Amino acid sequence: MTTVQLHDLRFEPFISEQELGRAIDVVAVGINAKYAGMRPLFIGVLNGSFFFASELLKRITIECEITFVKVASYHGTTSTGQVHQLIGLNERIHGRHVVVLEDIVDTGNTIEHLMGVLADHQPASVSVAALLFKPAAYKKDLPIEHVAMRIPNDFVVGSGLDHDGLGRNLPGILRLIKD
Ligand code: IMP
Repeated sequence: MTTVQLHDLRFEPFISEQELGRAIDVVAVGINAKYAGMRPLFIGVLNGSFFFASELLKRITIECEITFVKVASYHGTTSTGQVHQLIGLNERIHGRHVVVLEDIVDTGNTIEHLMGVLADHQPASVSVAALLFKPAAYKKDLPIEHVAMRIPNDFVVGSGLDHDGLGRNLPGILRLIKD
């Protein structure tokens, strides 16, 4: 794949679809083993998690449920730290084993907020599964238990991740070309 222009920025290929697939295989093996017999409830965080949710759930062989919520916390290429309200949590969380599905964990603001909201519903347990994790940007103590790939603190798009609405459809992961 060649470089791609999205609005004002150019992106170059970084992680292939095949590499992502292999990394998701490993996450699925871990979740299948950990949650066997526990009927986990996966909660995908929209919009970005649709790709990861779909790819991961294809590989989940144990009994499970999935639902989606929406939070918005990000504008442009740096995290604003603003987290808006959580929309669409209709399932009963009390006593359930919850796995939150994120496209990417950057500063951790979004996931910390979500965990706070979920804790109010008294689940039996909550863990986080992320397609991508930026350890160098992460500012929280909460463990990100299931990570497909750790990446440097670069801005990326593709496989659900966007730059101001564009790029979610691109296969694999592309990285911002810095001038
Ligand atoms: P956090 O709250 O800083 O952890 O950011 C989480 C959200 O910011 C993610 O769910 C994404 O929507 C967005 N985000 C963080 N890093 C990137 C990136 O490199 N590309 C696109 N979106 C990102």
